[in-house]
Amino acid sequence: MKEDKELQMPTHVTIIMDGNGRWAKKQGKVRLFGHNVGVESVRACCEYAVEHGIKYLSLFAFSEENWGRPQAEIDGLMSLMVKSMVAELPVFLKQNVKFRVIGNRTALPADVVEGIEKTESATACNTGLNLIVMLSYSGKWDILQAAKRYAEDMLDAGKRVDVDERGFEKYLSTYGIPDPDLMIRTSGEQRLSNYMLWQCAYTEFYFTPVLWPDFRKVDFELAIRSFNERERRYGKVE
Ligand code: FPP
Repeated sequence: MKEDKELQMPTHVTIIMDGNGRWAKKQGKVRLFGHNVGVESVRACCEYAVEHGIKYLSLFAFSEENWGRPQAEIDGLMSLMVKSMVAELPVFLKQNVKFRVIGNRTALPADVVEGIEKTESATACNTGLNLIVMLSYSGKWDILQAAKRYAEDMLDAGKRVDVDERGFEKYLSTYGIPDPDLMIRTSGEQRLSNYMLWQCAYTEFYFTPVLWPDFRKVDFELAIRSFNERERRYGKVE
């Protein structure tokens, strides 16, 4: 087992925060209670990332598919997002955290977009942890919007539409952010659920049975330890 000081931190950790509903049910509470407690886990993970110098932490907070949930849950989640952004802003400023939201903004309520824009511009000059919340995001949506814009630009420029990996990546909503080195999914589910399909091509996956509202720094550390045991070859030989 590696000592703490020997642990190598991934540049980009992404988390599929799962299990809020099941956690709430176990407590005999409504699903929104689980989402509320889940904010504590978000806070703990941000703290861990700041303390350990992780450069990028992205969190899958709401998928395009989640719009199909009951309206009361959607409304509760959206107001939780706004409330959390306002409440955490002083912490972001103190901890030098740069906040960003990625996803289909046209689908978001106006007050959520306003909260996002305010928090993004207030933290734009910060140089520490890049905290990225994936909201109304899905992997297929991202690839499709990129493909459309790519084709439009090529047609405008009167060029042949050429498929080039590096050129295409510029159109993804995550452009400029290194691909995730480590993807953590909580709650025992072992799938990608239409998340960062392009970006996770060589990401290491870590699955834990811990439900998201119970996920704390010690659980984050276990994921980092597992990542440190991996041998990444990117399809090549040693
Ligand atoms: C998945 O659990 C969780 C979500 C869809 C929402 C995650 C949102 C938060 C933790 C709220 C705050 C986030 C930020 C970034 C401030 P689930 O509802 O699918 O749980 P289940 O699989 O047990 O039903």
